Amino acid sequence: MSLRENALAVRENAYAPYSNFKVGAALIAENGVVYCGCNVENVAYPEGTCAEAGAIAAMIAAGQTRLTEVYVVADAPTPVSPCGGCRQKLIEFGAGDVAVTMATTEGAEVRMTLAELMPGAFTEAHLENT
Ligand code: THU
Repeated sequence: MSLRENALAVRENAYAPYSNFKVGAALIAENGVVYCGCNVENVAYPEGTCAEAGAIAAMIAAGQTRLTEVYVVADAPTPVSPCGGCRQKLIEFGAGDVAVTMATTEGAEVRMTLAELMPGAFTEAHLENT
């Protein structure tokens, strides 16, 4: 299964009764395994947890800490863009040259690197004086 097929499949399981906006994310970790996540909302926090965060959580739970490629898909007019919080989370576990493909269910795709998505990211380099 391609990364896109994984993201489309997990998207079907998204729990988004408040926004009705289902998102699927799939990533490849350093071990070559694909980890998937979908968005999960709840009544007290209707924005919920993003699909990207879910895929990262699955990777961490499996004992992997580095990601090498990311794919995100939703039914939107234009390819879905990871939110700011997710960009910071992706940077935590991926190098700047990691490719993030943003996609629509129709098949449109936009590919950017993590460095392009998060210019000037806050990283551990900023902690060097501490
Ligand atoms: N969402 C994601 O899961 N990933 C994104 O990249 C953008 C937004 C979710 C969060 C919320 O459940 C819904 O989409 C609407 O914001």
